[in-house]
Amino acid sequence: MKTSMLATVICASALLLPVVASASDDMQAVQGSVVFAQNCHACHSEDSSKNTFGPSLTGVVGRKAGSLPRFAYSEALRASGITWNEDKLRLWVQDNEKLVPGTRMRHVSITDKAEQDYLIAYLKTL
Ligand code: HEC
Repeated sequence: MKTSMLATVICASALLLPVVASASDDMQAVQGSVVFAQNCHACHSEDSSKNTFGPSLTGVVGRKAGSLPRFAYSEALRASGITWNEDKLRLWVQDNEKLVPGTRMRHVSITDKAEQDYLIAYLKTL
């Protein structure tokens, strides 16, 4: 009896999980757009395909750091050898000057793990 109930619970959660996961990805991206508006938007344009004070962040997840042709990056970022995956973006928003000493981007410090998750979910949509 106990085993079969457990099996039912496991089956039910296996069925529900994909639905819950995709809904929460969207929710995270929405939350992330708020974190972005508060901390990043001043330098990274709302039209994410444009370089403004900071480089365009369209397609930044998976991109090589400092690789856009029409942006005057710091030598430090261009030479960093970083590819922007989730881990690197997490370190970057946590303390960009620690990850890349000499970067031209003003120090940001998003240390809250949930805010980092939201931000990365949002960056993936750009
Ligand atoms: C004060 C302006 C400013 C703010 C605020 C800012 N950035 Fe930046 N960002 C820059 C500049 C300038 C660069 C280029 C840095 C360099 O060349 O060293 C940059 C670079 C980046 C890069 C690397 C892009 C690439 O093409 O390699 C990412 C990713 C990034 N910023 C994300 C963010 C996020 C996320 C936030 C908010 C948490 C943020 N930035 C806040 C100015 C800013």
